[in-house]
Amino acid sequence: MGKVTSLFLLTALFVWIPGCVGQEPAVALKASLLANYDKSLRPVKAASTPVNVDFDISLKQLIDLAEKEQAFRMNLWLRLYWDDEYLTWNASDHGGVESLTIQSADVWRPDIFLYNNIAETYGALGTVTDLTVTSTGRVTYLLPAIFTSACPVDITRFPFDKQDCVLEFGSWIYPGDLVNISLVKSSADITGYTNSEEWILRGAPMERKVAYYSCCPEPYVSILFTLQLERRSFFYIFNMVLPCIILIVLNVFGFYIPPDSGERLGFFMTILLALVVFLQVLSGSLPATSTTTPQLGQFFAATIWLVGISCLASIVVIRMSYNSPPSRPLPRWLRLLLLRYLARLFCMNTIAEEKHVVHPVKEGVDNLVFMDHDGDTIQQKDTPNFALDLSLREIVRYCREYSAQAREKKEEEDDQDEWKMAALVLDRAFLFLVGLANIIVCVVLLR
Ligand SMILES: *[C@@H]1O[C@H](CO)[C@@H](O)[C@H](O)[C@H]1NC(C)=O
Ligand SMILES: *[C@@H]1O[C@H](CO)[C@@H](O)[C@H](O)[C@H]1NC(C)=O
Repeated sequence: MGKVTSLFLLTALFVWIPGCVGQEPAVALKASLLANYDKSLRPVKAASTPVNVDFDISLKQLIDLAEKEQAFRMNLWLRLYWDDEYLTWNASDHGGVESLTIQSADVWRPDIFLYNNIAETYGALGTVTDLTVTSTGRVTYLLPAIFTSACPVDITRFPFDKQDCVLEFGSWIYPGDLVNISLVKSSADITGYTNSEEWILRGAPMERKVAYYSCCPEPYVSILFTLQLERRSFFYIFNMVLPCIILIVLNVFGFYIPPDSGERLGFFMTILLALVVFLQVLSGSLPATSTTTPQLGQFFAATIWLVGISCLASIVVIRMSYNSPPSRPLPRWLRLLLLRYLARLFCMNTIAEEKHVVHPVKEGVDNLVFMDHDGDTIQQKDTPNFALDLSLREIVRYCREYSAQAREKKEEEDDQDEWKMAALVLDRAFLFLVGLANIIVCVVLLR
């Protein structure tokens, strides 16, 4: 029962639809309109009349912006409107047909090209879609197109860069007094825009440009459509900058590793290697240009420099604290600079006060021993308790020698300690310097 009813309804629908709309007037109208139509001539009756083309763009999607190739591809819907004086009719004479769809290849279309196109199609618009004509001759031509265009990508501020990509549309053969292109709105329609994962759309202004070329005296009109993009930098911050900042912090704290633990140089070298790997990854995704260095690249380079300097500083500090046996005492100027001023500056006052001691003069001791050897022993040979005296003197001399030796050793140790302290102060100075330099690098290069 149900099946029979629906079958009946379906049949009724098929029979009823064509009869109701009545395509015959439209078919006849179209045949008569296109009978003597010359699609290579501008559709105006007077040769001096310009065809006014209204131009509009609806932005659909940014497909790709290749930094290396300096090219970008995007999906646009072009909207062109113009008046065709040969495609007019009186609607009431033609069965009330108000508008017709005509294959776009069958009628005249403005030869709009993308001037800065880099695809093999030379930027010509295809004839993918049909166009609509109303009885007044108003033609509406909406066509989707994927354009590949050159875009000079400036990567100086990468990954905080903003790019302006310009698409220039214009008629190839008609000057402005024959085909006058003008804008419908001052910016593209972005209501149907699909957000890009990589770029934020800041704006899409359009501008009408009149230019004179060396070939011809007439003005040529073109439309400059600027795509203003800003890179989403989160990816780079999360995957490159944050690890690098961790490495920077490690670099600064590397100076806390005691110089004599032997771990320090290896630690700095590991940081250096990690940074070099990061730089490699980064340079793989950027155009190989030598005119500018991207900001992130500068940041990595500066960090690598700082880690390198840290390595050098460590070598100096380790060499200083292992200066054993000290070939010479700490030079006076170095002692003043490191143990007095810098130690005070870095609040290492205890070092400064304890270790800044003046050594007693060595010569007095040497003289005494020398005197004993030659002068006294010969003079008093004849005394009764000569043997006892002699052994006593021997003991005294031995004691003196021993104490002199001990003193010398202590002095040497003091020297050694002084070198060590100086190394510690120098180490602290390097820590502060490298820390400060790292902060400056971060602030300046990660703005
Ligand atoms: C269209 O045709 C009708 C009847 O033939 C006529 O009355 C009308 O004025 C025409 N309109 C135009 C705009 O020519
Ligand atoms: C072209 O159109 C502009 C407005 O869009 C107008 O100012 C200009 O006079 C037109 N040029 C010609 C030759 O009609």
